[in-house]
Amino acid sequence: MAEEKSVAIIGCGLVGQSWAIVFSTAKFHVRIFDTLPGKLSDGMVSIQKKMEDLEEKGCLRGTISAAEALKFVKATDAIEQCVSGASYVQECVFEDFNLKRSVFEEAEKYVSKDAILASSTGNIFPSRLSEGMKLKDRIIVSHPLNPPHLVPLVEIISAPWTDPTVVAGARTILNDAGQVPIVAKKETAGFIICRIQHTITAECFKLIRDDVISVSDLDKLMPHGLGLRYAFLGALETSYLNANGMKHFCSMYGEPLYELQKQSGPPIRLEGEPLERIQEELEQQIPLDKIEERREWRDQKLAELFKLKNKTTN
Ligand SMILES: NC(=O)c1ccc[n+]([C@@H]2O[C@H](COP(=O)([O-])OP(=O)(O)OC[C@H]3O[C@@H](n4cnc5c(N)ncnc54)[C@H](O)[C@@H]3O)[C@@H](O)[C@H]2O)c1
Repeated sequence: MAEEKSVAIIGCGLVGQSWAIVFSTAKFHVRIFDTLPGKLSDGMVSIQKKMEDLEEKGCLRGTISAAEALKFVKATDAIEQCVSGASYVQECVFEDFNLKRSVFEEAEKYVSKDAILASSTGNIFPSRLSEGMKLKDRIIVSHPLNPPHLVPLVEIISAPWTDPTVVAGARTILNDAGQVPIVAKKETAGFIICRIQHTITAECFKLIRDDVISVSDLDKLMPHGLGLRYAFLGALETSYLNANGMKHFCSMYGEPLYELQKQSGPPIRLEGEPLERIQEELEQQIPLDKIEERREWRDQKLAELFKLKNKTTN
Protein backbone atom coordinates (compact mmCIF):
# COMPACT_ATOMS: atom_id res chain seq x y z
CA MET A 1 0.00 0.00 0.00
CA ALA A 2 1.38 3.41 -1.01
CA GLU A 3 2.11 5.97 1.71
CA GLU A 4 0.01 9.12 1.50
CA LYS A 5 1.89 12.32 0.57
CA SER A 6 4.93 10.36 -0.54
CA VAL A 7 6.38 11.15 -3.94
CA ALA A 8 9.22 9.62 -5.99
CA ILE A 9 11.11 11.69 -8.54
CA ILE A 10 13.26 9.89 -11.11
CA GLY A 11 15.91 12.15 -12.63
CA CYS A 12 17.50 15.07 -10.78
CA GLY A 13 17.97 17.48 -13.71
CA LEU A 14 16.21 20.80 -14.26
CA VAL A 15 12.65 19.48 -14.18
CA GLY A 16 13.24 16.85 -11.46
CA GLN A 17 14.72 19.49 -9.14
CA SER A 18 11.79 21.78 -9.78
CA TRP A 19 9.25 19.03 -9.06
CA ALA A 20 11.13 18.40 -5.78
CA ILE A 21 10.54 22.06 -4.84
CA VAL A 22 6.84 21.82 -5.79
CA PHE A 23 6.18 18.76 -3.62
CA SER A 24 8.47 19.48 -0.66
CA THR A 25 7.13 23.01 -0.15
CA ALA A 26 3.66 21.41 0.00
CA LYS A 27 4.92 19.00 2.69
CA PHE A 28 5.06 15.87 0.55
CA HIS A 29 7.87 13.45 1.41
CA VAL A 30 10.09 13.37 -1.68
CA ARG A 31 12.67 10.77 -2.64
CA ILE A 32 14.72 11.75 -5.68
CA PHE A 33 16.90 9.39 -7.72
CA ASP A 34 19.46 9.80 -10.52
CA THR A 35 21.96 7.47 -12.16
CA LEU A 36 24.62 9.93 -13.34
CA PRO A 37 27.45 10.41 -10.83
CA GLY A 38 27.38 13.83 -9.17
CA LYS A 39 23.89 14.65 -10.47
CA LEU A 40 22.20 13.89 -7.15
CA SER A 41 24.61 15.85 -4.95
CA ASP A 42 24.72 18.79 -7.39
CA GLY A 43 20.93 18.62 -7.73
CA MET A 44 20.40 18.74 -3.95
CA VAL A 45 22.67 21.80 -3.70
CA SER A 46 20.74 23.43 -6.53
CA ILE A 47 17.34 22.64 -4.92
CA GLN A 48 18.52 24.21 -1.66
CA LYS A 49 19.90 27.29 -3.42
CA LYS A 50 16.74 27.83 -5.48
CA MET A 51 14.51 27.53 -2.40
CA GLU A 52 16.72 29.87 -0.33
CA ASP A 53 16.82 32.46 -3.14
CA LEU A 54 13.04 32.35 -3.47
CA GLU A 55 12.63 32.65 0.30
CA GLU A 56 14.97 35.64 0.44
CA LYS A 57 12.87 37.39 -2.19
CA GLY A 58 9.63 36.49 -0.42
CA CYS A 59 8.59 34.24 -3.31
CA LEU A 60 8.88 30.73 -1.81
CA ARG A 61 5.59 28.88 -2.30
CA GLY A 62 3.79 27.07 0.51
CA THR A 63 3.67 27.84 4.21
CA ILE A 64 6.99 26.41 5.44
CA SER A 65 10.56 27.73 5.31
CA ALA A 66 13.18 26.59 2.80
CA ALA A 67 15.06 24.77 5.59
CA GLU A 68 11.89 22.92 6.64
CA ALA A 69 11.00 22.06 3.03
CA LEU A 70 14.49 20.73 2.41
CA LYS A 71 13.99 18.20 5.21
CA PHE A 72 11.18 16.68 3.13
CA VAL A 73 13.63 15.83 0.29
CA LYS A 74 15.84 12.73 0.44
CA ALA A 75 18.28 11.79 -2.32
CA THR A 76 18.83 8.13 -3.15
CA ASP A 77 20.99 6.27 -5.67
CA ALA A 78 18.69 3.22 -5.74
CA ILE A 79 15.47 3.24 -7.75
CA GLU A 80 13.93 0.64 -5.41
CA GLN A 81 14.37 2.95 -2.43
CA CYS A 82 13.07 5.89 -4.46
CA VAL A 83 9.78 4.40 -5.62
CA SER A 84 8.89 1.87 -2.88
CA GLY A 85 5.86 3.09 -0.95
CA ALA A 86 5.43 6.25 -3.07
CA SER A 87 1.85 7.10 -3.97
CA TYR A 88 2.97 9.16 -6.99
CA VAL A 89 6.05 8.74 -9.19
CA GLN A 90 7.17 11.58 -11.46
CA GLU A 91 9.67 10.44 -14.12
CA CYS A 92 12.01 13.24 -15.31
CA VAL A 93 14.83 11.56 -17.30
CA PHE A 94 16.07 12.64 -20.74
CA GLU A 95 13.45 12.86 -23.53
CA ASP A 96 14.25 9.43 -24.99
CA PHE A 97 11.54 6.81 -25.47
CA ASN A 98 13.72 3.74 -24.82
CA LEU A 99 15.25 5.27 -21.70
CA LYS A 100 11.88 6.28 -20.29
CA ARG A 101 10.43 2.87 -21.07
CA SER A 102 13.33 1.10 -19.27
CA VAL A 103 12.90 3.41 -16.28
CA PHE A 104 9.19 2.51 -16.05
CA GLU A 105 9.98 -1.19 -16.42
CA GLU A 106 12.43 -0.91 -13.52
CA ALA A 107 10.07 1.22 -11.40
CA GLU A 108 7.09 -1.09 -11.80
CA LYS A 109 9.06 -3.90 -10.12
CA TYR A 110 9.11 -1.97 -6.84
CA VAL A 111 6.11 0.40 -6.74
CA SER A 112 2.97 -0.24 -4.73
CA LYS A 113 0.18 -1.62 -6.88
CA ASP A 114 -1.94 1.47 -6.09
CA ALA A 115 0.78 3.99 -7.08
CA ILE A 116 0.39 6.46 -9.95
CA LEU A 117 3.29 6.57 -12.43
CA ALA A 118 3.62 9.81 -14.39
CA SER A 119 6.06 10.92 -17.08
CA SER A 120 7.16 14.54 -17.62
CA THR A 121 7.44 13.95 -21.38
CA GLY A 122 6.21 16.68 -23.70
CA ASN A 123 5.48 14.48 -26.70
CA ILE A 124 5.48 10.71 -26.06
CA PHE A 125 1.95 9.33 -25.88
CA PRO A 126 1.16 7.52 -22.62
CA SER A 127 -0.26 4.61 -24.68
CA ARG A 128 3.20 4.15 -26.28
CA LEU A 129 4.97 4.42 -22.92
CA SER A 130 2.69 1.98 -21.15
CA GLU A 131 1.73 -0.58 -23.81
CA GLY A 132 2.58 -4.10 -22.69
CA MET A 133 3.60 -3.01 -19.18
CA LYS A 134 2.27 -4.86 -16.13
CA LEU A 135 0.95 -1.60 -14.64
CA LYS A 136 -0.15 -0.17 -17.98
CA ASP A 137 -3.42 1.12 -16.55
CA ARG A 138 -1.53 3.22 -13.94
CA ILE A 139 0.89 5.06 -16.28
CA ILE A 140 0.05 8.59 -17.45
CA VAL A 141 1.80 11.73 -18.63
CA SER A 142 1.93 14.75 -16.31
CA HIS A 143 3.61 17.29 -18.57
CA PRO A 144 4.69 20.51 -16.85
CA LEU A 145 5.85 23.84 -18.17
CA ASN A 146 9.39 24.71 -17.14
CA PRO A 147 10.06 25.30 -14.30
CA PRO A 148 7.01 23.72 -12.61
CA HIS A 149 7.69 25.42 -9.25
CA LEU A 150 7.12 28.80 -10.92
CA VAL A 151 4.62 27.86 -13.64
CA PRO A 152 1.90 25.74 -12.03
CA LEU A 153 0.00 24.42 -15.07
CA VAL A 154 0.43 20.71 -15.75
CA GLU A 155 -1.39 18.73 -18.42
CA ILE A 156 -2.45 15.17 -17.62
CA ILE A 157 -2.77 12.80 -20.57
CA SER A 158 -3.94 9.22 -20.26
CA ALA A 159 -4.02 6.17 -22.53
CA PRO A 160 -7.32 4.60 -23.64
CA TRP A 161 -6.79 1.86 -21.03
CA THR A 162 -5.80 4.10 -18.08
CA ASP A 163 -7.80 3.46 -14.91
CA PRO A 164 -9.95 6.64 -14.52
CA THR A 165 -9.16 6.69 -10.79
CA VAL A 166 -5.49 7.22 -11.74
CA VAL A 167 -6.32 10.43 -13.61
CA ALA A 168 -8.56 11.61 -10.77
CA GLY A 169 -5.86 10.69 -8.22
CA ALA A 170 -3.16 12.56 -10.16
CA ARG A 171 -5.40 15.61 -10.38
CA THR A 172 -5.93 15.55 -6.60
CA ILE A 173 -2.24 15.09 -5.78
CA LEU A 174 -1.13 17.85 -8.15
CA ASN A 175 -3.83 20.17 -6.81
CA ASP A 176 -2.74 19.41 -3.24
CA ALA A 177 0.81 20.27 -4.25
CA GLY A 178 -0.36 23.70 -5.47
CA GLN A 179 -0.20 22.99 -9.23
CA VAL A 180 -3.01 23.66 -11.69
CA PRO A 181 -3.71 20.37 -13.50
CA ILE A 182 -5.71 20.22 -16.72
CA VAL A 183 -6.87 16.89 -18.15
CA ALA A 184 -6.84 16.02 -21.87
CA LYS A 185 -9.79 13.77 -22.74
CA LYS A 186 -7.73 11.96 -25.36
CA GLU A 187 -4.21 11.75 -26.79
CA THR A 188 -3.53 14.36 -29.46
CA ALA A 189 -0.31 15.29 -31.27
CA GLY A 190 1.58 17.95 -29.29
CA PHE A 191 -0.79 17.36 -26.35
CA ILE A 192 -2.49 20.67 -25.48
CA ILE A 193 0.32 22.98 -24.38
CA CYS A 194 2.62 22.47 -27.37
CA ARG A 195 -0.26 22.55 -29.82
CA ILE A 196 -1.02 26.14 -28.79
CA GLN A 197 2.58 27.18 -28.13
CA HIS A 198 3.94 25.84 -31.43
CA THR A 199 1.10 27.47 -33.37
CA ILE A 200 2.21 30.84 -31.98
CA THR A 201 5.87 30.10 -32.84
CA ALA A 202 4.94 29.05 -36.37
CA GLU A 203 2.87 32.22 -36.96
CA CYS A 204 5.80 34.33 -35.68
CA PHE A 205 8.09 32.57 -38.18
CA LYS A 206 5.69 33.34 -41.00
CA LEU A 207 5.53 37.05 -40.07
CA ILE A 208 9.35 37.23 -40.04
CA ARG A 209 9.62 35.22 -43.28
CA ASP A 210 7.25 37.68 -44.98
CA ASP A 211 9.21 40.62 -43.52
CA VAL A 212 6.10 42.09 -41.93
CA ILE A 213 7.80 43.17 -38.68
CA SER A 214 11.18 43.11 -36.91
CA VAL A 215 12.01 40.40 -34.38
CA SER A 216 12.29 42.87 -31.50
CA ASP A 217 8.93 44.50 -32.25
CA LEU A 218 7.22 41.12 -32.66
CA ASP A 219 8.58 39.99 -29.32
CA LYS A 220 6.84 42.94 -27.60
CA LEU A 221 3.46 41.42 -28.50
CA MET A 222 3.26 38.97 -25.60
CA PRO A 223 4.87 40.83 -22.64
CA HIS A 224 3.21 44.18 -23.44
CA GLY A 225 0.04 43.03 -25.15
CA LEU A 226 -1.66 39.67 -25.41
CA GLY A 227 0.31 38.15 -22.53
CA LEU A 228 -1.03 40.69 -20.04
CA ARG A 229 -4.60 39.48 -20.55
CA TYR A 230 -3.56 35.85 -20.88
CA ALA A 231 -1.82 36.08 -17.48
CA PHE A 232 -5.24 35.91 -15.87
CA LEU A 233 -7.81 35.11 -18.61
CA GLY A 234 -8.13 32.11 -20.89
CA ALA A 235 -8.04 32.61 -24.66
CA LEU A 236 -11.73 31.69 -24.99
CA GLU A 237 -12.89 33.93 -22.16
CA THR A 238 -10.79 36.75 -23.66
CA SER A 239 -12.85 36.47 -26.85
CA TYR A 240 -16.08 36.14 -24.87
CA LEU A 241 -15.35 39.41 -23.07
CA ASN A 242 -14.21 41.17 -26.24
CA ALA A 243 -17.81 40.96 -27.47
CA ASN A 244 -21.12 40.28 -25.78
CA GLY A 245 -20.45 36.57 -25.49
CA MET A 246 -18.88 33.97 -27.74
CA LYS A 247 -21.71 33.81 -30.26
CA HIS A 248 -21.57 37.59 -30.69
CA PHE A 249 -17.74 37.38 -31.03
CA CYS A 250 -18.02 34.70 -33.72
CA SER A 251 -20.71 36.59 -35.59
CA MET A 252 -18.30 39.54 -35.85
CA TYR A 253 -14.93 37.80 -36.20
CA GLY A 254 -15.75 34.26 -37.31
CA GLU A 255 -15.44 34.99 -41.03
CA PRO A 256 -12.25 37.11 -40.82
CA LEU A 257 -10.74 34.43 -38.56
CA TYR A 258 -11.59 31.75 -41.11
CA GLU A 259 -10.02 33.82 -43.93
CA LEU A 260 -6.92 34.43 -41.79
CA GLN A 261 -6.44 30.71 -41.25
CA LYS A 262 -6.66 30.17 -45.02
CA GLN A 263 -4.24 33.03 -45.76
CA SER A 264 -1.77 31.84 -43.17
CA GLY A 265 -0.82 29.17 -45.68
CA PRO A 266 0.71 25.71 -45.40
CA PRO A 267 2.95 24.56 -42.53
CA ILE A 268 6.39 26.13 -42.38
CA ARG A 269 9.73 24.50 -41.50
CA LEU A 270 11.68 26.42 -38.87
CA GLU A 271 14.82 26.80 -40.97
CA GLY A 272 16.50 28.87 -43.66
CA GLU A 273 16.58 32.65 -44.02
CA PRO A 274 13.89 33.53 -41.41
CA LEU A 275 15.72 31.39 -38.85
CA GLU A 276 19.03 33.15 -39.63
CA ARG A 277 17.37 36.55 -39.17
CA ILE A 278 15.63 35.61 -35.90
CA GLN A 279 18.83 34.12 -34.47
CA GLU A 280 20.91 37.15 -35.46
CA GLU A 281 18.49 39.71 -34.04
CA LEU A 282 18.00 37.79 -30.80
CA GLU A 283 21.75 37.30 -30.40
CA GLN A 284 22.23 41.05 -30.66
CA GLN A 285 19.90 41.47 -27.69
CA ILE A 286 21.04 38.41 -25.73
CA PRO A 287 24.50 37.09 -26.70
CA LEU A 288 24.68 33.31 -26.41
CA ASP A 289 27.08 33.55 -23.44
CA LYS A 290 24.47 35.62 -21.56
CA ILE A 291 21.62 33.13 -21.95
CA GLU A 292 22.05 31.73 -18.43
CA GLU A 293 21.88 35.26 -16.98
CA ARG A 294 18.73 35.94 -18.96
CA ARG A 295 17.17 32.64 -17.74
CA GLU A 296 17.84 33.73 -14.15
CA TRP A 297 16.16 37.06 -14.90
CA ARG A 298 13.19 35.17 -16.43
CA ASP A 299 12.86 32.95 -13.36
CA GLN A 300 13.00 35.97 -11.05
CA LYS A 301 10.19 37.64 -13.02
CA LEU A 302 8.19 34.40 -13.00
CA ALA A 303 8.61 34.16 -9.22
CA GLU A 304 7.32 37.73 -8.80
CA LEU A 305 4.37 37.01 -11.08
CA PHE A 306 3.63 33.75 -9.27
CA LYS A 307 3.55 35.65 -5.97
CA LEU A 308 1.32 38.38 -7.38
CA LYS A 309 -1.10 35.88 -8.90
CA ASN A 310 -1.34 33.98 -5.62
CA LYS A 311 -2.40 37.21 -3.91
CA THR A 312 -5.22 37.85 -6.36
CA THR A 313 -8.38 35.78 -6.47
CA ASN A 314 -8.97 33.52 -9.48
N1 LIG B 1 13.38 21.43 -19.65
C1 LIG B 1 12.14 21.76 -20.05
O1 LIG B 1 11.88 22.85 -20.50
C2 LIG B 1 11.03 20.74 -19.93
C3 LIG B 1 9.68 21.16 -19.83
C4 LIG B 1 8.67 20.20 -19.70
C5 LIG B 1 8.99 18.85 -19.70
N2 LIG B 1 10.31 18.46 -19.83
C6 LIG B 1 10.61 17.04 -19.82
O2 LIG B 1 11.14 16.68 -18.56
C7 LIG B 1 12.06 15.60 -18.73
C8 LIG B 1 13.38 15.97 -18.08
O3 LIG B 1 13.90 17.13 -18.71
P1 LIG B 1 15.08 18.01 -18.04
O4 LIG B 1 15.10 19.30 -18.77
O5 LIG B 1 14.96 18.00 -16.55
O6 LIG B 1 16.37 17.15 -18.45
P2 LIG B 1 17.81 17.19 -17.77
O7 LIG B 1 18.79 16.82 -18.83
O8 LIG B 1 18.04 18.48 -17.04
O9 LIG B 1 17.74 16.04 -16.66
C9 LIG B 1 17.58 14.68 -16.94
C10 LIG B 1 18.13 13.91 -15.76
O10 LIG B 1 17.80 12.53 -15.93
C11 LIG B 1 18.89 11.79 -15.37
N3 LIG B 1 18.83 10.41 -15.84
C12 LIG B 1 19.19 9.90 -17.05
N4 LIG B 1 18.98 8.58 -17.11
C13 LIG B 1 18.44 8.23 -15.90
C14 LIG B 1 17.98 7.00 -15.33
N5 LIG B 1 18.01 5.86 -16.02
N6 LIG B 1 17.50 7.01 -14.07
C15 LIG B 1 17.48 8.16 -13.36
N7 LIG B 1 17.89 9.35 -13.83
C16 LIG B 1 18.35 9.38 -15.09
C17 LIG B 1 20.10 12.56 -15.84
O11 LIG B 1 21.27 12.23 -15.08
C18 LIG B 1 19.66 14.00 -15.62
O12 LIG B 1 19.99 14.46 -14.33
C19 LIG B 1 12.13 15.33 -20.23
O13 LIG B 1 11.26 14.32 -20.57
C20 LIG B 1 11.68 16.65 -20.82
O14 LIG B 1 11.12 16.53 -22.11
C21 LIG B 1 11.32 19.37 -19.91
